[in-house]
Amino acid sequence: MKVTLEGKKKHFRTVSFEPESNRLTLIDQRLLPHTFSLLETTDYRQSALAIQNMTTRGAGAIGATAAYGLAQGCRAFSSKSLTRFATHVQKVFQTLASARPTAVDPFNAMAQVLNAMEPGGTVAEKQELALRAAIQFAEEDVAHCRAIGKWGAELIEEGMTILTHCNAGWLAFVDIGSATAPLYEAQAQGKPFHVLCDETRPRSQGAILTAWELAQQGVPHHIIPDNAAGHYMQRGKIQMVITGADRVLARTGAAANKIGTFTKAVLAKYHRIPFYIAIPLSTIDWETADGFDIPIEERSEEEVLCAWGRPVNDETEKSGGDEKPVQVRVANPSSRALNPGFDVTPAELITGFITPVGILKPDELRSKLGKGAS
Ligand code: MRU
Repeated sequence: MKVTLEGKKKHFRTVSFEPESNRLTLIDQRLLPHTFSLLETTDYRQSALAIQNMTTRGAGAIGATAAYGLAQGCRAFSSKSLTRFATHVQKVFQTLASARPTAVDPFNAMAQVLNAMEPGGTVAEKQELALRAAIQFAEEDVAHCRAIGKWGAELIEEGMTILTHCNAGWLAFVDIGSATAPLYEAQAQGKPFHVLCDETRPRSQGAILTAWELAQQGVPHHIIPDNAAGHYMQRGKIQMVITGADRVLARTGAAANKIGTFTKAVLAKYHRIPFYIAIPLSTIDWETADGFDIPIEERSEEEVLCAWGRPVNDETEKSGGDEKPVQVRVANPSSRALNPGFDVTPAELITGFITPVGILKPDELRSKLGKGAS
């Protein structure tokens, strides 16, 4: 998507890779919305760290980072021994796989790369196949998001207000986004609509990232506190909810997404408001049978007890606000906190999944998308 920098619009992908230098370039999401900056990695361990410390985040973006990171690690291997190469690949895979647990996209992305490498007869051939598969994953991510936009835009009627949670926008993917794709497509079609972005504490991806993206694209929106959605639903101010997901179980249609999604789905059901989840195919977990078996990331208490931001004063305004965000303590100093990163929304609360091949009911995922589906 395009970002306006010094008055000029420029296209950026959230994740990109330069094969000649084996270099991965990421938009540093820890500095947004105040500073737009890119971070480069030339080593798979740095790429894994960028996933773990949330330089890059969001299911599709960490999927592409893991795919490129695996190719990056494979391509850094210099001997011709296939046995030693196999051990090295395992180490690279494990390092990237252990960065974050909940989103399935990095695991699916790396499985695609590993499978593609199999036919290679030499280390060099396998390295080339790994690179091609990582590029293919990233290109598919963009194509899937574009197709989600076409299907999802059909749901958007003129004058609607749409609620979204967290950031399933282009920053959460290679480009375009999943939950935001229908919004950008509807905007391109000239439909007027309004978006409410849940703030999404504790890391505030809605207030920081989704709102920044929508502002960059000129989509009318407001940020609302996490607890305000029920109030607006009760007063008829929200006509549809669209979120993304980090892992969707093909067997049951349950969806893991940012903490607070389940609560919004319950509220939407109570108020008979359609609740859609937009996903590329890389977000589907074909194996897990029970939502309770999805690994839920437990994050640091600090995220709940503190807040980060830019001081509001004349000096920061004058400097253009390019300094790093500061952390302030919000909570009672002697209290502890719990911080689950994700929750699981059961299928019965989900109206449909906006996928690259159409809008599917939760119980259609396996039959319409699974192996052997026509
Ligand atoms: O912790 P994050 O920011 O990586 O969380 C992921 C998310 O942004 C959301 O859960 C999002 O809705 C799905 S990712 C496409």
